[in-house]
Amino acid sequence: MGEPSKIIHFGSLPRDPDRDALLVEMRDPVRSLDELVFTPAIRGSLRRIEQEFRGRDAIAGLGLHPRSRLIFVGPPGCGKTVCAEALAGSLGMKLLYARFDGIVSSYLGETATNLRRVFTFAAQQNAILFFDEFDALGKRRDDPHEVGELKRVISSFLQILDAHPRDKFVVAASNHQGMLDEALWRRFDDVLEFPMAKAADLTALLQLRLRPVSTSGLDLRKAAAKMRGFSFADAERVCHEAMKALAMRGSRELAETDLALEIEQQAARLKIVTKTQRAE
Ligand SMILES: Nc1ncnc2c1ncn2[C@@H]1O[C@H](COP(=O)(O)OP(=O)(O)OP(=O)(O)O)[C@@H](O)[C@H]1O
Ligand SMILES: [Mg+2]
Repeated sequence: MGEPSKIIHFGSLPRDPDRDALLVEMRDPVRSLDELVFTPAIRGSLRRIEQEFRGRDAIAGLGLHPRSRLIFVGPPGCGKTVCAEALAGSLGMKLLYARFDGIVSSYLGETATNLRRVFTFAAQQNAILFFDEFDALGKRRDDPHEVGELKRVISSFLQILDAHPRDKFVVAASNHQGMLDEALWRRFDDVLEFPMAKAADLTALLQLRLRPVSTSGLDLRKAAAKMRGFSFADAERVCHEAMKALAMRGSRELAETDLALEIEQQAARLKIVTKTQRAE
C-alpha cells in the first residue's frame, strides 16, 4: 500500500540521442484495482475493457478491435495515474510512462521524431503506453498562443496513433479536458471521468487505507464528513500521517482525536495551497 510503482528496465529504453534524454520509463505495477475507490461508471468501463481484452480474438474475427485507446479526465488527486498503473497490472502488462521532459524538444521536428521513437518501442512491448498530464502535448491546435511547432506535434501524434497496432493500449490522462481538441477526442475508444470524491467515497478510502491499524472505536463516516473538498490523495495523506503518529507512540489503536487532528492539518494545508494558487 502506498508504495510507488517500481521503475525497471533501464538499458534499452528509447532516448533522444542529441540530449541523451530518456523518453519513457518502464514501471512494474504494484497497485491493484481492488485498493482503489471508483465510481460505478469507472468500474463498468474497466470491466468492459478487461472483458474485451480477454475476448480480443473473437472480436478480431469480426474485423473489430477491443477498446484500447483510453482517456482519463478529472481533477488532481482522483486516481487517473494510479488507475493506469493498476489497469496495466490487471491486464498482465507493464506501464510504459511517457516522459515529456525527454520527448518535448526545442529542436524543430525533434519532438515528433521522439514520439515516433516512443510508439515504435511501445509497439514491441507488453505494456500500456501512458501519457500522463497529456495536455502538455495536446493543447488546442487553434490556441493563438501556440506556435506552429505544437500544431505539427499534435498532427504527428494523431498520425502515429492511427498507425499504431490496435491491440496495443494507449492511455492519456488530463485534468484540463477543455484544452484537448476534437480531433484528439475522436481517437479514443473510451473516456473515463474521475470526479472529486464524495463523502461516501472518502469513507471507503479510510476503510481501505486504515486497515493496518485498529479503528474499532471510530466512526469513519463522521470523519469523512469533515473532509469536505479533499481529494482521494488528500484523504490518503491524512491516513498515512495518522498511522505514522500512532506508530511513533507504539500504539495500534487509532483514536478519534488522532484522525481529527490530521484532518485539520490537511485542511489548513489545502487553504495554503489555494491561497498560493490564487496569488499566482
Ligand atoms: N480513486 C482513488 N482511490 C483510491 N486511492 C486514490 C484514488 N485516487 C487517488 N488515490 C490516491 O492518491 C494518490 C494520487 O492519485 P493519482 O496520482 O492517481 O491522481 P491523479 O488523478 O493522477 O492526479 P493528477 O491530476 O494530479 O495527476 C494515488 O497514489 C492514490 O494512492
Ligand atoms: Mg496523475
